[in-house]
Formats: sequence, C-alpha cells, structure tokens
Amino acid sequence: MQKCTRACFVSLLLFRSLSGLSPTRGLRAVVRETGGHQLLEIWDGQGLRKCFNLTALKKHGQVYDDAQFGCLSWSECENKLLYVAEKNKNTSTETQDRESDRSVYREDWGEALTNKSSPVICVVNLQNDTVGVLQGVPTDVSPGQALWAPGSQSVIFVGWYHEPFRLGLKFCSNRRSALFKLDLDGHCERLSGDNLSVSCPRLSPDGSTLIYLQGKTCVLFMLNSLTSSETSTLLDVVNKPQPGEFAGVYEALPSSCWSADSQRVVFSSARRNWRDLFMVDRRSKKVTSLSDIYGSWKLVTVQRDLMVVCCSSPNTPPTLRVGFLPSAGENVTWRTLQQPALTFDFLWKILDVEPPPEEDNTQYSGLDFGAILVKPSRALHEARIPLVVFIHGPHWCSWLKSLMVCCNLVFPVSLFLSFYPVNYRGSTGFGQNSILSLIGRIGSQDVKDVQRAVVTTLQNDLTLDPKRVAVFGGSHGGFLSCHLVGQYPEFYRACAVRNPVINAATLSGTSDIVDWRYTSVGLQYSYDQIPTAEALAAMLERSPITHAAQITAPVLLMLGGRDRRVSPHQGLELYKALKSRASPVRLLWFPEDGHSLSRVDTQADCFLNTVLWLYQHL
Ligand SMILES: *[C@@H]1O[C@H](CO)[C@@H](O)[C@H](O)[C@H]1NC(C)=O
Ligand SMILES: *[C@@H]1O[C@H](CO)[C@@H](O)[C@H](O)[C@H]1NC(C)=O
Ligand SMILES: *[C@@H]1O[C@H](CO)[C@@H](O)[C@H](O)[C@H]1NC(C)=O
Ligand SMILES: *[C@@H]1O[C@H](CO)[C@@H](O)[C@H](O)[C@H]1NC(C)=O
Ligand SMILES: *[C@@H]1O[C@H](CO)[C@@H](O)[C@H](O)[C@H]1NC(C)=O
Ligand SMILES: *[C@@H]1O[C@H](CO)[C@@H](O)[C@H](O)[C@H]1NC(C)=O
Repeated sequence: MQKCTRACFVSLLLFRSLSGLSPTRGLRAVVRETGGHQLLEIWDGQGLRKCFNLTALKKHGQVYDDAQFGCLSWSECENKLLYVAEKNKNTSTETQDRESDRSVYREDWGEALTNKSSPVICVVNLQNDTVGVLQGVPTDVSPGQALWAPGSQSVIFVGWYHEPFRLGLKFCSNRRSALFKLDLDGHCERLSGDNLSVSCPRLSPDGSTLIYLQGKTCVLFMLNSLTSSETSTLLDVVNKPQPGEFAGVYEALPSSCWSADSQRVVFSSARRNWRDLFMVDRRSKKVTSLSDIYGSWKLVTVQRDLMVVCCSSPNTPPTLRVGFLPSAGENVTWRTLQQPALTFDFLWKILDVEPPPEEDNTQYSGLDFGAILVKPSRALHEARIPLVVFIHGPHWCSWLKSLMVCCNLVFPVSLFLSFYPVNYRGSTGFGQNSILSLIGRIGSQDVKDVQRAVVTTLQNDLTLDPKRVAVFGGSHGGFLSCHLVGQYPEFYRACAVRNPVINAATLSGTSDIVDWRYTSVGLQYSYDQIPTAEALAAMLERSPITHAAQITAPVLLMLGGRDRRVSPHQGLELYKALKSRASPVRLLWFPEDGHSLSRVDTQADCFLNTVLWLYQHL
C-alpha cells in the first residue's frame, strides 16, 4: 500500500502542471511544454504511447493549466480526453479577423490569469487521433473545470459570465457563474441557477450524483432525476460555529473527494486557527473530523477510499500521511509515509481573543478570534525574545505554509524570534458572521484586533520582549502591517510587507477586483460604477497612507512588477512618502512577479531579506 501511494504522490509532484490518470487502464495524459510548444502525451506502463503536438495542430491557443479553469479529464471509455484552452483567434466566428483589429484590447481574467481570455473546451479522440473544439458553449460565458458526464456523450462545465466585463477570478469565489451540460452535438443546458457562483463539480464514482460548491455551500445534484435540477444542500453556511464544530467550507474541493460507495465526501477546510480534514455523509449530512493531531491537514486525494493528506504543525514540516476512510463509529488509522527529516523545537500555544465591549461589532456581536504564539523552546543567551507579528490576507489562512518555509530556510535565525500569526475577525474558519463583520470596517476593526491580540500576549507572556516587536504581512496583511506602524509608531520596531495595499482610493482604478475596493469599505458595487468623491474619500480614509507621516519603523517593501491585484505603484506610493521624510525604507522590486511573489528565486530573496531586516532592526 505504501509503495503504491508513494508512486501516486511522486507522479502528482512530477506532473504538477496538468495531468490525468485514466481510472481503469491506468493511462496517464500529460500536457507538457517544450521549446515553446505544447504537447499532449499519453503514457502507459510500457512508455509513451501517443503524442499530439497541440501547438502545431493550431486548433486552439495555449492550454489552460491553472487551478481556476484547467482540467484534463478522461471519458469513461478511456478513448476521449477533454481540456480547456484559449480560443484560436483564427477560428473566431463572431468577428471577422481584420488587419485593423490587431491592436484591439483583449480582456482577461486578471491576476495569475493573464492572457486567459476566451477559453474553449477541446476534445481529443484517441481512436482516430483527432483534436477538436466543442461548439455550443453560450457566448457570454468562459468555460472551465470541465468533466465528462456518465456515458461520455456530454460534458459538464462551469461557465463564468464575462459580461459586461471580466473581473479577477483568483481567490474570488463569489463571481457570477453557473453549471452547464453540453452535448457533443452542441446542445447546451444550464443545470444550476443563473445568478449564483458555482465551482468544483465532482462526479460520484457511480455516476449518479454531482456535488459542487455554490458560494460557501456544497450542493448535491442528482444527475439522472427526471424532474430537472433536483438539488439539495449537503453542507450549509455556518454563521456562528460552536466550539470544536465544523465552521464551513472555505476552499476548493480536491479533484477526487468521493468515497468508493458514493455516499461520503472528504474535504479539508479552515476551522479556527487550523485547516482540518472532514468527512460528510450524504444521508445524515453529519460532518466528522478525521484528524488525530493538531495541525494543518490538506487532502491531496482519495482513491478507492485511501486518503492521502499533507499535514504540518509548527514543529513538523509538511508530511504525507495515508489512511483508509473509516466505517461508521471507527477512527482512521493514519500512517506517515516518510518521517520528516527534521522537526523543530518550538513551543506553541493557541490564544483565543475576545474583543472588549467597545470593539464589539454591533451587527455581528460576540465574535471572537484567534492567534498562535510560536516561540523557541530555549531562549538563546537573552532573557526576552523578540516577537514577529504575522498577518495574512483576509478570507484565507495560508500563513502556516509560509511560516514553515521560512523556518526551513532560516532555521538558525528563527531560534531568536517568536512568530505570532493573528487571525483577526474576517479570517476564514470562524464562520460566515466573522467574514461579514469585516465588510465596511477594514482599517479599523482588523487593525484593532491585531493590536489587541499583540498587547494581550505581551502582557501574558513575560518571556517576550515588548520593546522588540516587528510586523510582517502581504496584500491585506501588508495593509494592516502599514496601518499598525502608522497608528502605533512607538510600538513597532520594524515592518516587512509584500505587495501591500497603501491607498485604496488610487488602487480602485487599477485593481483587477475593483468590486472589493467598494464592498470592503461598505459600499455597493455595480459594473457601471462611476467613482464619486465620497466613495474615494471613504477608501482613502481607511488607508495606511493617511498615517504615513507618523511611521518611524524601518519598512521593507517587496513588490511584484506584474501584480494586477495590488499594483506595485501602491508600494511605491509609500516608498516616496517615507523617502521624502528620511524615514528608513528599502524596496525590493521583482519585475517578473505577480501578487504572490511565488517564483522560486523571488521567494528565497524575500525570505532572506525579511529575516535580515528583522535581525538588523530587532
Ligand atoms: C511541434 O510543432 C512545431 C511546429 O510545427 C515544431 O517546431 C516542433 O518541433 C514540434 N515539437 C515536437 C516535440 O514535435
Ligand atoms: C492564422 O491565420 C494566418 C493567415 O491565415 C496564418 O498565417 C496563421 O498561422 C494562423 N495562426 C494560427 C494561430 O492559426
Ligand atoms: C501575454 O501575452 C503577451 C503577448 O503575446 C506576452 O508578451 C506576455 O508575455 C504574456 N504574458 C503572460 C503572463 O503570459
Ligand atoms: C473521429 O471519431 C469521432 C467519433 O468516433 C468522429 O465524430 C469524428 O468525425 C472522427 N474524425 C475523423 C477525422 O474521422
Ligand atoms: C440575474 O441577474 C441579471 C443581472 O443582474 C438579471 O438581469 C437577471 O434577471 C437575473 N436573473 C435571475 C433569474 O434572477
Ligand atoms: C476514536 O477516537 C476518539 C478520540 O481519540 C476516542 O475517544 C474514541 O474512543 C475512538 N473510537 C474508537 C472506536 O476507537
């Protein structure tokens, strides 16, 4: 069992881009890029069986290999494959291609989806080795996440509406979209409601049922029911989770998530300060946690009831574990595939923070939030340890991975520091009310939450040095970091930020998610919005740039030249404000990077610089 799973994971790692394993014959399809050309290869146990030079065939443009649209799905008969690619400009039927159209602007789907504009669904027929583009997708949607319906005579896909114009999709689970079914003869039918946001359709192994996410709910859809669109809610929104209970669905479903008997679904999701692993039974709709140790659990896949998960905690780097889905009343017996080569020696504790009455949100009263204090178990030489406050963006909880990477890279240095990720109200894992509580209150509620958590922990833990506190964050976390050094200039000794929001008013003209600029300050957004002085004033008033003159802490800025979510000009605005006041500032500019600054050399550069910056100023 171990060997097989390891092989499966190795192939997952090796073919991270776009690959699909056929369920019966074990054929692997891989889309690979070489010398600027995209190839589709079909492999079996003996080796390479077929190769299609997709670029040379000119049926479509670049194949989509992103997590948003990308897919590579085998039909039941294993004779057909489908994937999504950019529409061929030459086969455009709506507009006649003319020389004068060469410079016409093409909208795309924003940050991390640059040049992805008009996807088409492509089908490969392995019996006669043909590649074709499916016709019949409604012209007002961009299709993606496609899969074969049972019988292989039709495909199911998510269509994102691109009228009146495209807004950024990455991290935005609220974009108007619907589920469609398209027959190979071009007949298309909408399966879900019209004004919803859907994603992650996953077919049960028996082919009877589809589940998908609809906003923050998970819906069961019976495919064969004669009464059309027979749906029921499998997992509902959790407004205010009870202690220890499931808190809602906050992330995409893995591509395999069904049990072999088509009765249960496995998924991971944020719960308070961690990501946990859950199983839901479609009959009882009961949700059970499957984890046995405290930490972050990410489901990689489920194959014939064997789950592969990736687990980590402050003391363990990401580690693969496997276990079979339990029968009723049983627990999972988890096996670690490979003991981590190194573990860390941190002390860590969870802190629950309750805002004081004056900081309670009257609309969503009684919400608390959490934070995790991670510190070296032995203080080196010194009595008191510096504290690095770590702030993530809203509505996601990815701090742990970064923290682990950071510790891996700079292990000796991290012995001197303690880390303090704060999951202020508005973070995922605390229920829908917590998320809604932040709408209209950015720049105040979230800033006060972080400061409250930091002050409380410094008062309660005398091994921490209140005179050496730094703050680190990216995106909205960068926005909060800059607010903190601006609003509490005596308190923080250093600041390091990645692609921070500095001036939400100027950002509203350039961000791929302009709608969030309005809703985050409590204003309604519509596509035909014209900015008003009042709206821009509301955005400016909540922005850290208004406190820039008070900043004294040295600020390290790390900016991606191609960031389309938070323009690098945001960071430059702060850079100029600080430079003109002779306030210490250092700017790292990564011309080829986007919002996530995720290129490998960029990550190494950022972490090294951040650690040196903290070390120098603490
Ligand atoms: C794919 O086709 C292109 C264009 O015809 C050609 O230049 C390239 O060498 C081909 N690649 C492979 C691996 O066959
Ligand atoms: C588009 O058409 C032109 C002229 O017909 C041809 O030269 C070019 O190679 C075609 N491009 C693609 C991507 O098919
Ligand atoms: C997008 O397309 C343009 C023009 O073909 C190209 O120069 C650019 O590198 C592409 N950008 C990305 C991120 O693929
Ligand atoms: C290949 O086979 C499919 C289905 O069997 C058929 O629809 C298509 O026309 C065939 N293409 C060619 C070029 O023969
Ligand atoms: C969906 O929204 C669009 C635009 O907001 C509106 O025109 C349409 O009537 C709505 N459809 C339904 C079924 O509510
Ligand atoms: C499952 O684990 C829980 C918590 O560790 C324990 O209380 C329970 O007895 C276990 N159940 C079985 C059937 O082993």
